[in-house]
Amino acid sequence: MVKVAVLGAAGGIGQPLSLLLKANPLVTELALFDIVNTPGVAADLSHINTPAKVTGYIGDEQLGDALKGAHVVVIPAGVPRKPGMTRDDLFNINAGIVKNLATGAAKHCPKAFVAVISNPVNSTVPIVAEVFKQHGVFDPKRIFGVTTLDIVRAATFVSEITGADVASTNVPVIGGHSGATILPILSSLSHSFTDAQRDALVQRIQYGGDEVVKAKNGAGSATLSMAYAGARFVSALLDASVLKKAGVKECTYIKTDVAAADGVEYFSTVVELGVDGVAVAHPLPSFSEHEKKLYAAAIAELKVNIQKGIDFVAKSA
Ligand code: NAD
Ligand code: LMR
Repeated sequence: MVKVAVLGAAGGIGQPLSLLLKANPLVTELALFDIVNTPGVAADLSHINTPAKVTGYIGDEQLGDALKGAHVVVIPAGVPRKPGMTRDDLFNINAGIVKNLATGAAKHCPKAFVAVISNPVNSTVPIVAEVFKQHGVFDPKRIFGVTTLDIVRAATFVSEITGADVASTNVPVIGGHSGATILPILSSLSHSFTDAQRDALVQRIQYGGDEVVKAKNGAGSATLSMAYAGARFVSALLDASVLKKAGVKECTYIKTDVAAADGVEYFSTVVELGVDGVAVAHPLPSFSEHEKKLYAAAIAELKVNIQKGIDFVAKSA
């Protein structure tokens, strides 16, 4: 039995993500939780002829039932950006939402894999981790910040320049999930870019989210591409943990010591997934001179973002 719970399932990401998860044959139960509209979303998806039994849960009093027995909990709950906002501007609203949902997960499914989509991911993942620590159930191998959209974007934007097949283009993107903390490792590719191409690509990958926010013009941020990326990440978790496939790798933001020497305890890196979550977190790659500068900028911002999440839980305990 493989139960996946989506928290924030009625939202712009939640609905298409739930649709893609309903199409995953490994999922046997799909629990849709939100503060609004989940009965309708669940009824709609439940007519699709795939194995997952779909149930809708609404409001805090039903959170426990949504979470009980979950193998994976995906969290896209919270407000999205409007033009002119940074992801950090979402902290004041989303930190409390994520803390509440993490408390539910720590109580009702402490062994589940938790995949955090809600922004600012650089801070919301430490929030989930601190809540799990408070409940004595923290396992750093099981809590993930979903940065897959950065990988998806990087492959798309790079293949537009190189002309290579997009499906077989793989660009590691490490660090965090906002602006300067997003660090694409273009030096790992065999293609040699001009400095101008490299700079334009880095800028586009770091600020791809802003491109969508601007185009949506007040109607939110990326939802469909995020749903695709989120479904890809959950599918990787299930391939590794349920099918026990070897060699399943994704970049994801986790508590790790890969950048501990530079003073950060959360970092997105290439992770090999296994039955218990993180099997191997790859060390930092060898950086080009240009990437060394990007790394330093990423570290400086990450430190602030991580501390903000940790402090939030400490202060609101
Ligand atoms: P949305 O407003 O369309 O949907 C959010 C949903 O969360 C709504 O249905 C809302 O009712 C629900 N919600 C609010 N409070 C809740 C609570 N306490 N419990 C359960 N559900 C609750 O927003 P969206 O476009 O789906 O974006 C959601 C979040 O995902 C935002 O924070 C956004 O910044 C983030 N995001 C992250 C990435 C990433 O790459 N990690 C990509 C895109 C968006
Ligand atoms: C993204 O990268 O699209 C998301 O983090 C949403 C945003 O605010 O840009």
